[in-house]
Amino acid sequence: MKEKIILGIETSCDDTSFALIKGNPDDLGQIPTLLAHQSFSQELMLAKWGGVVPEIAARNHLEKITPLLDSCFKQAQISIEDIDIVAVTTHPGLLGPLLTGINCAKTLSLMHNLPIASVNHLYAHLEAIHLTTNVPYPYLGLLVSGGHSIYLKVTSPTDFEILGNTIDDAAGEAFDKGGKLLGLGYPAGKIIDDLALNGDATKYKFPISMLDSGDATLSFSGVKTSLRNFIEAHPDKDFKMEDVCASYQHAIVEALSRKLKKAQEIGNAQNLPIVVGGGVACNSELRRNLHKNFSNVHFVAPKFCTDNGAMIANYALRIFHHAISFPECLALDARGQF
Ligand code: KG4
Ligand code: ZN
Repeated sequence: MKEKIILGIETSCDDTSFALIKGNPDDLGQIPTLLAHQSFSQELMLAKWGGVVPEIAARNHLEKITPLLDSCFKQAQISIEDIDIVAVTTHPGLLGPLLTGINCAKTLSLMHNLPIASVNHLYAHLEAIHLTTNVPYPYLGLLVSGGHSIYLKVTSPTDFEILGNTIDDAAGEAFDKGGKLLGLGYPAGKIIDDLALNGDATKYKFPISMLDSGDATLSFSGVKTSLRNFIEAHPDKDFKMEDVCASYQHAIVEALSRKLKKAQEIGNAQNLPIVVGGGVACNSELRRNLHKNFSNVHFVAPKFCTDNGAMIANYALRIFHHAISFPECLALDARGQF
């Protein structure tokens, strides 16, 4: 089969992102070509609300869809007639934001007679590794984002077995909620990461939950509560923010790292390559820790870690033969995961 051009659309949360990629669905070992990538992050607009407000995020997506789509085709110097398929995140995500992207995809599909690929956002995060690196299957995946912290054994682009999950907050939530308690703004993952670079991670001890559970289950609500207690015990803020950030970050990263060992055991995956994706995969301490403690670790490139259209187009390339021709059948599934 010859190379195909795919338009990827991502609007599941607070990033509006489009990408055009070119690749051969029958030669998945080849790195696809990124023809264009245009994104808008609502972070600054949503900061004053302290997080994502779904209705506001959906309206912001609507405003950005047309200009970003135009810029994408201009950047790639092609037109809609040149593309073979439209790919869009259909699950999981926020209802209103998902709907804006899905309706955009359906409209393009109906107007230009294009098939649609319905993309699972979580799979797309991990498979984004193939935008830069050819990692063979099976691999052990760690998906760490604002909404998820999951260990998965991935045997093909469509075969994902869960080895461990969080029972409460996701790692990204732990960063964001911790940052809110510390008055650092939203989203706080990168802010904490940057401050921690100049801090002492051994200064304070924050708990690492579920160490004795014997499985790859994670929990981050305890570390957040412990940070709240710490702040209440220091009303005069007689601490160095950098030290608190480094210590808090250490507890989150250490939990992810230790449970990765458990996931290896449970999945009989000690000899498999490890792939780490999702927004928290940008974290410098997580990168340092996993490279030190594991071999054959591959991190998704930072620009493809946080929500983006390239990972959606890339995943559609990998499931190209499952695309559907009738967009009327395409449904969203806000809570669906697998
Ligand atoms: O994958 P993503 O863009 O959205 C979801 O699908 O959830 O991830 C966003 C999350 C936020 O919680 C953000 O604080 C976190 O990724 N994040 C980081 C870093 N950069 C982004 N967390 C820790 N360190 C970072 N450098
Ligand atoms: Zn995401």
